Amino acid sequence: MAQSHPPSALPPHIAVANHKGGVGKTSTTVGLAAAAAEAGERVLVVDMDPQGNSTRRLRAHLPDALEDRAAASLAGVLPSPARGEAARIVTPCGWSAPYSSRIDVLPSDLDLELLGLTAGLPSAERRLLRALATVVDAYDLVLIDCPPSLLSHLTDNAWTASDYLLVPCEAEFESVQAARRVSERIARDRHTLNPDLQIAGFVPTRYRAHLGVHRTRLEDMAKISGPESICPTRFPELAVMKTASEKALPLTECGSQGRDMAALFRDAYTWLRNRITHLEKSAA
Ligand SMILES: Nc1ncnc2c1ncn2[C@@H]1O[C@H](COP(=O)(O)OP(=O)(O)OP(=O)(O)O)[C@@H](O)[C@H]1O
Ligand SMILES: [Mg+2]
Repeated sequence: MAQSHPPSALPPHIAVANHKGGVGKTSTTVGLAAAAAEAGERVLVVDMDPQGNSTRRLRAHLPDALEDRAAASLAGVLPSPARGEAARIVTPCGWSAPYSSRIDVLPSDLDLELLGLTAGLPSAERRLLRALATVVDAYDLVLIDCPPSLLSHLTDNAWTASDYLLVPCEAEFESVQAARRVSERIARDRHTLNPDLQIAGFVPTRYRAHLGVHRTRLEDMAKISGPESICPTRFPELAVMKTASEKALPLTECGSQGRDMAALFRDAYTWLRNRITHLEKSAA
Protein backbone atom coordinates (compact mmCIF):
# COMPACT_ATOMS: atom_id res chain seq x y z
CA MET A 1 0.00 0.00 0.00
CA ALA A 2 1.49 3.32 -1.04
CA GLN A 3 2.38 5.72 1.77
CA SER A 4 0.81 8.87 0.37
CA HIS A 5 1.27 12.28 1.94
CA PRO A 6 -1.37 15.02 2.16
CA PRO A 7 -1.39 17.17 -1.02
CA SER A 8 -0.10 20.20 0.88
CA ALA A 9 2.73 18.37 2.66
CA LEU A 10 6.09 17.60 1.17
CA PRO A 11 7.58 14.10 1.33
CA PRO A 12 10.29 13.63 3.96
CA HIS A 13 13.70 14.61 2.64
CA ILE A 14 16.34 12.38 4.19
CA ALA A 15 20.07 12.90 3.74
CA VAL A 16 22.04 9.67 4.16
CA ALA A 17 25.36 10.82 5.58
CA ASN A 18 28.38 10.04 7.67
CA HIS A 19 31.83 11.64 7.84
CA LYS A 20 33.46 8.37 6.81
CA GLY A 21 33.87 6.63 3.50
CA GLY A 22 32.68 3.10 2.80
CA VAL A 23 30.33 2.76 5.78
CA GLY A 24 27.30 1.93 3.63
CA LYS A 25 25.71 5.29 2.81
CA THR A 26 25.02 4.37 -0.81
CA SER A 27 24.01 0.80 0.05
CA THR A 28 21.55 2.17 2.62
CA THR A 29 20.19 4.77 0.19
CA VAL A 30 19.65 2.20 -2.55
CA GLY A 31 18.31 -0.49 -0.18
CA LEU A 32 15.78 1.87 1.41
CA ALA A 33 14.72 3.24 -1.97
CA ALA A 34 14.04 -0.34 -3.09
CA ALA A 35 12.13 -1.12 0.12
CA ALA A 36 9.95 1.96 -0.30
CA ALA A 37 9.29 1.07 -3.95
CA GLU A 38 8.33 -2.47 -2.95
CA ALA A 39 5.78 -0.88 -0.59
CA GLY A 40 4.29 0.99 -3.54
CA GLU A 41 5.87 4.37 -2.82
CA ARG A 42 7.42 6.76 -5.32
CA VAL A 43 11.00 7.63 -4.45
CA LEU A 44 13.39 10.30 -5.67
CA VAL A 45 17.07 9.46 -5.10
CA VAL A 46 19.31 12.52 -5.23
CA ASP A 47 22.92 11.55 -5.86
CA MET A 48 25.02 14.30 -4.27
CA ASP A 49 28.23 12.30 -4.39
CA PRO A 50 30.48 13.06 -7.40
CA GLN A 51 31.48 9.38 -7.32
CA GLY A 52 28.03 8.71 -8.76
CA ASN A 53 27.67 5.33 -7.08
CA SER A 54 23.93 5.43 -6.46
CA THR A 55 23.47 6.66 -10.05
CA ARG A 56 25.35 3.59 -11.30
CA ARG A 57 23.81 1.10 -8.87
CA LEU A 58 20.30 2.22 -9.80
CA ARG A 59 21.24 2.07 -13.48
CA ALA A 60 20.15 5.64 -14.12
CA HIS A 61 21.16 6.28 -17.70
CA LEU A 62 23.58 9.10 -18.51
CA PRO A 63 24.86 9.95 -22.01
CA ASP A 64 28.11 8.22 -23.00
CA ALA A 65 29.85 11.36 -24.24
CA LEU A 66 31.74 12.97 -21.36
CA GLU A 67 30.73 16.50 -22.34
CA ASP A 68 27.03 15.55 -22.34
CA ARG A 69 27.11 13.65 -19.04
CA ALA A 70 27.63 16.66 -16.80
CA ALA A 71 24.79 18.57 -18.47
CA ALA A 72 22.39 15.67 -17.83
CA SER A 73 23.34 15.45 -14.16
CA LEU A 74 23.26 17.58 -11.01
CA ALA A 75 26.65 18.93 -12.12
CA GLY A 76 24.81 20.68 -14.97
CA VAL A 77 21.88 21.89 -12.89
CA LEU A 78 23.34 23.07 -9.60
CA PRO A 79 25.80 25.82 -10.63
CA SER A 80 22.94 28.27 -11.20
CA PRO A 81 19.60 26.48 -10.90
CA ALA A 82 16.23 27.94 -11.72
CA ARG A 83 13.52 26.96 -9.23
CA GLY A 84 12.53 23.38 -9.99
CA GLU A 85 15.21 22.96 -12.64
CA ALA A 86 16.05 19.45 -11.41
CA ALA A 87 12.94 18.35 -13.35
CA ARG A 88 14.96 18.33 -16.56
CA ILE A 89 17.40 15.67 -15.31
CA VAL A 90 14.95 13.28 -13.62
CA THR A 91 16.05 9.84 -14.82
CA PRO A 92 14.20 6.58 -14.17
CA CYS A 93 15.89 3.75 -12.32
CA GLY A 94 17.05 1.19 -14.88
CA TRP A 95 16.04 -1.85 -12.82
CA SER A 96 13.06 -4.01 -13.74
CA ALA A 97 9.47 -3.48 -12.51
CA PRO A 98 8.29 -2.41 -9.99
CA TYR A 99 11.41 -0.34 -9.33
CA SER A 100 11.61 1.21 -12.80
CA SER A 101 8.32 3.05 -12.45
CA ARG A 102 8.68 3.97 -8.77
CA ILE A 103 12.29 5.11 -8.35
CA ASP A 104 13.68 8.16 -10.13
CA VAL A 105 17.22 9.44 -9.82
CA LEU A 106 18.79 12.88 -10.01
CA PRO A 107 22.08 11.55 -11.34
CA SER A 108 25.55 12.63 -10.36
CA ASP A 109 28.66 13.10 -12.41
CA LEU A 110 32.30 13.73 -11.53
CA ASP A 111 31.98 17.43 -12.42
CA LEU A 112 29.72 17.86 -9.38
CA GLU A 113 33.00 18.03 -7.45
CA LEU A 114 33.52 21.50 -8.99
CA LEU A 115 30.42 23.00 -7.37
CA GLY A 116 32.52 23.93 -4.36
CA LEU A 117 34.43 26.45 -6.50
CA THR A 118 31.36 28.70 -6.43
CA ALA A 119 30.54 28.16 -2.76
CA GLY A 120 31.04 31.87 -2.06
CA LEU A 121 28.05 32.98 -4.16
CA PRO A 122 25.07 34.33 -2.20
CA SER A 123 22.82 31.51 -0.92
CA ALA A 124 25.04 28.97 -2.67
CA GLU A 125 24.20 26.32 -0.08
CA ARG A 126 20.50 26.61 -1.03
CA ARG A 127 21.03 25.62 -4.66
CA LEU A 128 19.86 22.02 -4.29
CA LEU A 129 16.78 23.14 -2.33
CA ARG A 130 15.96 25.57 -5.13
CA ALA A 131 16.50 23.00 -7.88
CA LEU A 132 14.24 20.48 -6.10
CA ALA A 133 11.30 22.84 -5.57
CA THR A 134 8.04 21.40 -6.98
CA VAL A 135 9.94 18.41 -8.47
CA VAL A 136 9.57 16.59 -5.15
CA ASP A 137 5.78 16.95 -5.12
CA ALA A 138 5.43 13.80 -7.21
CA TYR A 139 7.15 11.59 -4.61
CA ASP A 140 6.47 9.96 -1.25
CA LEU A 141 10.12 9.99 -0.22
CA VAL A 142 13.30 11.88 -1.14
CA LEU A 143 16.63 10.24 -0.28
CA ILE A 144 19.84 12.23 -0.69
CA ASP A 145 23.03 10.16 -0.93
CA CYS A 146 25.86 12.30 0.50
CA PRO A 147 29.60 12.25 -0.08
CA PRO A 148 31.80 11.17 2.86
CA SER A 149 32.61 14.75 3.85
CA LEU A 150 31.46 16.96 6.70
CA LEU A 151 32.38 20.56 5.92
CA SER A 152 32.05 20.47 2.15
CA HIS A 153 29.78 22.58 -0.01
CA LEU A 154 28.03 19.47 -1.35
CA THR A 155 27.24 18.37 2.20
CA ASP A 156 25.94 21.87 3.02
CA ASN A 157 23.61 21.72 0.01
CA ALA A 158 22.37 18.24 0.90
CA TRP A 159 21.71 19.12 4.54
CA THR A 160 20.09 22.46 3.74
CA ALA A 161 17.61 20.60 1.52
CA SER A 162 16.85 17.89 4.11
CA ASP A 163 14.48 17.44 7.02
CA TYR A 164 16.37 14.51 8.51
CA LEU A 165 19.74 12.83 8.51
CA LEU A 166 20.10 9.08 8.53
CA VAL A 167 23.58 7.95 9.55
CA PRO A 168 24.79 4.52 8.42
CA CYS A 169 27.49 3.53 10.85
CA GLU A 170 29.77 0.54 11.28
CA ALA A 171 30.12 -0.58 14.89
CA GLU A 172 33.79 0.38 14.84
CA PHE A 173 35.65 3.16 16.65
CA GLU A 174 36.40 5.48 13.71
CA SER A 175 32.96 5.11 12.20
CA VAL A 176 31.26 5.95 15.50
CA GLN A 177 33.61 8.92 15.93
CA ALA A 178 32.61 10.11 12.46
CA ALA A 179 28.91 9.76 13.35
CA ARG A 180 29.54 11.79 16.49
CA ARG A 181 31.11 14.56 14.38
CA VAL A 182 27.95 14.59 12.24
CA SER A 183 25.84 15.03 15.35
CA GLU A 184 28.14 17.77 16.69
CA ARG A 185 28.07 19.65 13.41
CA ILE A 186 24.28 19.66 13.34
CA ALA A 187 24.18 20.98 16.89
CA ARG A 188 26.71 23.69 15.99
CA ASP A 189 25.57 24.79 12.52
CA ARG A 190 21.88 24.02 12.43
CA HIS A 191 20.88 27.64 13.03
CA THR A 192 22.76 28.88 9.95
CA LEU A 193 22.36 25.87 7.65
CA ASN A 194 18.93 24.49 8.41
CA PRO A 195 17.16 25.09 11.75
CA ASP A 196 14.74 22.19 11.15
CA LEU A 197 17.36 19.54 10.48
CA GLN A 198 17.54 16.66 12.93
CA ILE A 199 18.99 13.19 13.09
CA ALA A 200 16.34 10.56 12.41
CA GLY A 201 18.70 7.80 13.42
CA PHE A 202 21.72 5.59 13.00
CA VAL A 203 21.78 2.40 10.93
CA PRO A 204 24.27 -0.25 12.10
CA THR A 205 26.00 -1.60 8.99
CA ARG A 206 28.33 -4.56 8.41
CA TYR A 207 27.45 -5.71 11.91
CA ARG A 208 28.95 -8.88 13.36
CA ALA A 209 27.03 -9.78 16.52
CA HIS A 210 29.63 -12.35 17.63
CA LEU A 211 32.29 -9.62 17.97
CA GLY A 212 32.38 -8.14 21.46
CA VAL A 213 33.89 -4.95 20.09
CA HIS A 214 30.91 -4.48 17.76
CA ARG A 215 28.50 -4.82 20.68
CA THR A 216 30.52 -2.25 22.64
CA ARG A 217 30.63 0.21 19.73
CA LEU A 218 26.89 -0.18 19.24
CA GLU A 219 26.47 1.02 22.83
CA ASP A 220 28.75 3.98 22.01
CA MET A 221 26.55 4.75 18.98
CA ALA A 222 23.48 4.79 21.25
CA LYS A 223 25.16 7.39 23.50
CA ILE A 224 25.20 9.95 20.67
CA SER A 225 21.43 10.53 20.42
CA GLY A 226 19.90 7.89 22.67
CA PRO A 227 19.06 4.19 22.16
CA GLU A 228 15.75 5.02 20.46
CA SER A 229 17.72 6.62 17.60
CA ILE A 230 19.41 3.32 16.71
CA CYS A 231 17.66 1.34 14.00
CA PRO A 232 16.89 -2.09 15.52
CA THR A 233 17.79 -3.76 12.22
CA ARG A 234 21.49 -4.64 12.19
CA PHE A 235 22.78 -5.23 8.69
CA PRO A 236 25.19 -8.17 8.72
CA GLU A 237 28.34 -8.21 6.63
CA LEU A 238 27.32 -10.38 3.69
CA ALA A 239 28.89 -10.96 0.28
CA VAL A 240 25.54 -10.45 -1.42
CA MET A 241 25.81 -6.71 -0.74
CA LYS A 242 28.92 -6.62 -2.90
CA THR A 243 27.26 -8.75 -5.58
CA ALA A 244 24.29 -6.38 -5.73
CA SER A 245 26.52 -3.31 -5.98
CA GLU A 246 28.95 -4.89 -8.49
CA LYS A 247 26.12 -6.01 -10.76
CA ALA A 248 23.94 -2.94 -10.10
CA LEU A 249 20.95 -5.17 -9.34
CA PRO A 250 18.21 -5.03 -6.71
CA LEU A 251 18.87 -7.38 -3.78
CA THR A 252 15.64 -9.21 -4.63
CA GLU A 253 17.37 -10.43 -7.82
CA CYS A 254 20.47 -11.71 -5.99
CA GLY A 255 19.30 -15.10 -4.71
CA SER A 256 17.93 -16.10 -1.32
CA GLN A 257 20.61 -14.20 0.65
CA GLY A 258 19.73 -11.09 -1.35
CA ARG A 259 16.02 -11.55 -0.64
CA ASP A 260 16.82 -11.89 3.08
CA MET A 261 18.81 -8.66 2.98
CA ALA A 262 15.99 -6.92 1.07
CA ALA A 263 13.64 -8.00 3.88
CA LEU A 264 15.99 -6.33 6.41
CA PHE A 265 15.79 -3.10 4.40
CA ARG A 266 11.99 -3.32 4.51
CA ASP A 267 12.20 -3.69 8.32
CA ALA A 268 14.58 -0.73 8.54
CA TYR A 269 12.29 1.35 6.34
CA THR A 270 9.27 0.59 8.53
CA TRP A 271 11.31 1.68 11.55
CA LEU A 272 12.41 4.87 9.76
CA ARG A 273 8.83 5.83 8.84
CA ASN A 274 7.67 5.27 12.43
CA ARG A 275 10.62 7.22 13.75
CA ILE A 276 9.82 10.17 11.48
CA THR A 277 6.18 10.11 12.56
CA HIS A 278 7.35 10.15 16.19
CA LEU A 279 9.77 13.06 15.57
CA GLU A 280 7.09 15.02 13.68
CA LYS A 281 4.65 14.61 16.58
CA SER A 282 7.33 15.65 19.10
CA ALA A 283 8.08 18.79 17.06
CA ALA A 284 4.40 19.77 16.69
N1 LIG B 1 26.41 -5.19 4.89
C1 LIG B 1 27.41 -5.28 4.00
N2 LIG B 1 28.11 -6.43 3.83
C2 LIG B 1 29.11 -6.52 2.93
N3 LIG B 1 29.49 -5.51 2.14
C3 LIG B 1 28.85 -4.35 2.26
C4 LIG B 1 27.78 -4.15 3.20
N4 LIG B 1 27.33 -2.87 3.08
C5 LIG B 1 28.07 -2.32 2.12
N5 LIG B 1 28.97 -3.18 1.62
C6 LIG B 1 29.96 -2.93 0.56
O1 LIG B 1 30.91 -2.00 1.07
C7 LIG B 1 31.31 -1.12 0.03
C8 LIG B 1 31.05 0.30 0.50
O2 LIG B 1 29.65 0.48 0.66
P1 LIG B 1 28.93 1.81 0.17
O3 LIG B 1 29.39 2.17 -1.20
O4 LIG B 1 27.50 1.66 0.42
O5 LIG B 1 29.57 2.84 1.22
P2 LIG B 1 29.54 4.43 1.18
O6 LIG B 1 29.49 4.86 2.59
O7 LIG B 1 28.48 4.91 0.28
O8 LIG B 1 30.96 4.75 0.54
P3 LIG B 1 31.47 6.19 0.02
O9 LIG B 1 31.85 6.95 1.25
O10 LIG B 1 32.64 5.87 -0.85
O11 LIG B 1 30.35 6.84 -0.72
C9 LIG B 1 30.53 -1.50 -1.21
O12 LIG B 1 31.33 -2.33 -2.00
C10 LIG B 1 29.35 -2.27 -0.66
O13 LIG B 1 28.89 -3.25 -1.57
MG1 LIG C 1 28.54 6.28 -1.32
